[in-house]
Amino acid sequence: MTEYEIKVSKRIRNKIFGGKQVFTINEVQKREYPVGSLVKLVCGNKFVAWATINPKNPKHYIRILSTEKDYDLYSDIVNKLKIAQRYRDKIGYSRHYRWVYSESDFLSGLIVDKFENIIVIQNTNPYFDKNINIIKEAILDVGKNVETIYEKSVGKNREKEWLPPKERILYGSKTRTTIKEGGKKFIVDVKSGQKTGWFLDQRENRSIVKKFVYGKTLDAFSYTGSFGIISSDKADELWFLEKNRSSVEVLIENLKINGIDNAKVLNTNAYLVLKKFSAENRKFDVVILDPPDLLSENYKKGIRSFILVNSMAIDLIKDGYLISFSCSQDLKEDKMFSILRTLIRRKSRRFELISRLHQAFDHKVIFPHKELEYLKGFVLHIW
Ligand SMILES: C[S@@+](CC[C@H](N)C(=O)[O-])C[C@H]1O[C@@H](n2cnc3c(N)ncnc32)[C@H](O)[C@@H]1O
Repeated sequence: MTEYEIKVSKRIRNKIFGGKQVFTINEVQKREYPVGSLVKLVCGNKFVAWATINPKNPKHYIRILSTEKDYDLYSDIVNKLKIAQRYRDKIGYSRHYRWVYSESDFLSGLIVDKFENIIVIQNTNPYFDKNINIIKEAILDVGKNVETIYEKSVGKNREKEWLPPKERILYGSKTRTTIKEGGKKFIVDVKSGQKTGWFLDQRENRSIVKKFVYGKTLDAFSYTGSFGIISSDKADELWFLEKNRSSVEVLIENLKINGIDNAKVLNTNAYLVLKKFSAENRKFDVVILDPPDLLSENYKKGIRSFILVNSMAIDLIKDGYLISFSCSQDLKEDKMFSILRTLIRRKSRRFELISRLHQAFDHKVIFPHKELEYLKGFVLHIW
């Protein structure tokens, strides 16, 4: 099948059998094979796994493709797509969900999201990059009524692999659809949208947050308005803060298609508005904070931003709920809680912990790949 072979130790072999799928340059025999080559891993003379290599990225030097001796990419992807599909079916996810979550679905580096009949691919695996048409065919064969396959392989993770950004339609032509969640409708525009078009990772959290919404509610960093809109029946007054213009345009459309005509939408920098509201001593019953990843660029600066935004939000609450999220993988759950607790204590306020929130069930985390766990949040009653 290939002339490329790499020797691995027994320790690495055992890690592979234990589910580990990404290895650094220091963990295996170093080879300068071309990026994205198919490589056979052997321990002694025995076959261990098929893998691919990226000599340009020492951290993701080897990615495991399969531990089956007879490897064929098309059959392997079809099989894994079917297994991934069965799990989503079993937990009642239908119509929109993350179909493939990288290592957790044994397709290292590959994300496949589904929004009705539109499929979005985001890939950082160099072998899949070379064989994207095979992945496309497998999706068309396993997926039901697929109208469009859109590739959105862009962003920082792609740069780290030294792979060029690729954003294009692989099949069909439709790039916009409407999904339903929590009894509300939402436009998902996979082309202009962030991530793959919609924050699938907040699925359960949206219905949990709805339980606590009442009175005057502020949805800060709102994107296209999912939290506020799903909870809209329970709020007397709804405010949205979002910096990105095209997200605000979709948010306004989402309000319209759900018949919400009394919301206040500010296309603005949330930090400035929170500061202004604090200075004016304005009060809200519920503040939802779902900022972008603040820490990946600079940890210390990110922590300072996190403290600032949460501090301003706490000041807006007299007796109500702070629902605070972080999608920064570098900010661990306990650390986030300790920051919030310290902040509240320093303000001589009282609080109770109502709930800890996590990423949706289609974002499951295979161990040892704990880096796949990134989203956490807290519902705090503050008074
Ligand atoms: C994690 S997303 C929010 C997702 C949203 N809660 C949802 O579930 O659909 C963070 C959002 O914050 C926006 N954003 C980033 N910096 C901002 C800022 N300084 N002020 C307002 N919005 C900002 C981004 O454009 C993005 O839409």
